[in-house]
Amino acid sequence: MPENPDYCLKCIECGREYEIEDIYMCECGGLLEVFIKDANLKFKLDGNLRGVWKYSSLLPVKIDPISLKEGSTPLYRCRRLEDILKDRSSQNLRVEVYVKHEGANPSGSFKDRGMTVGVTKAIELGKRAVACASTGNTSASMAMYAAKAGIKAYVLLPAGKVALGKVAQALMHGARVIGIEGNFDQALSIVREVCRTEGFYLLNSINPFRLEGQKTIAFEIADEIGVPDRVILPVGNAGNISAIYKGFRELERFGLTSSIPMMTGVQAEGANPVYRAVKNNKTDIDPVLNPETVATAIRIGQPVNARKAIRAIYESGGVAEEVSDREILEAQKLLAMREGIGVEPASAASIAGLLKLGEKGIIESGERVVCITTGHLLKDPETVIRECGEPIKVEASVDAVRKVL
Ligand code: F0G
Repeated sequence: MPENPDYCLKCIECGREYEIEDIYMCECGGLLEVFIKDANLKFKLDGNLRGVWKYSSLLPVKIDPISLKEGSTPLYRCRRLEDILKDRSSQNLRVEVYVKHEGANPSGSFKDRGMTVGVTKAIELGKRAVACASTGNTSASMAMYAAKAGIKAYVLLPAGKVALGKVAQALMHGARVIGIEGNFDQALSIVREVCRTEGFYLLNSINPFRLEGQKTIAFEIADEIGVPDRVILPVGNAGNISAIYKGFRELERFGLTSSIPMMTGVQAEGANPVYRAVKNNKTDIDPVLNPETVATAIRIGQPVNARKAIRAIYESGGVAEEVSDREILEAQKLLAMREGIGVEPASAASIAGLLKLGEKGIIESGERVVCITTGHLLKDPETVIRECGEPIKVEASVDAVRKVL
């Protein structure tokens, strides 16, 4: 049994606390988060990664988890990236760079950390169906965990704008997959209403329990190398940056660590509401009405968790950055070819952000930086073929092959 902590849901705007769990928003309209009031910590930060449920004493569920052995993802020291940063900067920049590869999760993205907790909560609350809107990865992961739990899964996708691998996963795991003629933001608003009328459990990142699973990214980083100076990650619906920040805050609050990394969010130029808000010192976003980027996972104009994310950035002394599609695709290639780490375009935004912030002098010498690569290369094979071209084709003879070596 998990060692569940004493917790409640708490509004980030008005501070109201709720003991009921089957809600997504405060009555005042504010976002909710799980507030861990007290916990009996049964784990140590001893470098021994055993997955999300190692940290069950800080995870708010009361039943045995629906788990596919998620988490425990590799953290790579990337010395070639360090050299590239140094070469590109004007002032001999010396930074320690790590990549935490969340593509190594069971469905190939970080969403599995959230879904193991979210689907467990669905079962705990007696739900018979789960639902989400998705740019792809959330749907793949939710479908997989719903299959494991034996409950129904309903998925709304922006038709024609989801990478092939992700659609394939949602279909094969048995979700009802519905493409809408609209973007992610519209799909999310529709699915929220459908969940309300049909009694489905909503598993987008507006669900505070899902983010609890994702905070274990922070726990694993601290477990393996201690608290870094900076964490860089792509921002779409803005749940993950909020979750990771919360994770570091909890470790500090419970006396396991004594600092918080600068939370650094990277968005695509064509879907950059959080970047623009932070640039203008605002606490909320102006929506981007027609978001567009090659990184379809983060093609989001109206992130629901924006207020949490912007707070995380300000409170931790971090920054937000934007990168072009070209910078994203170059970073994807660089990481694949120079470090052997295969990621999807959205994930490469974190590497593109690292390089840009290094060149701008915002990242300083001596920093220890962790970039989160959120999803696996195989999620989006079509973009890869567009970038790299088709394989060479020759007749079946040794001569023909030798000619093209
Ligand atoms: N990277 C990848 C690969 C993603 O799939 C997502 C989000 C993000 C980054 C951004 O994370 O939303 O927490 O800021 N994908 C969601 C989905 C929206 O539906 O799969 P975020």
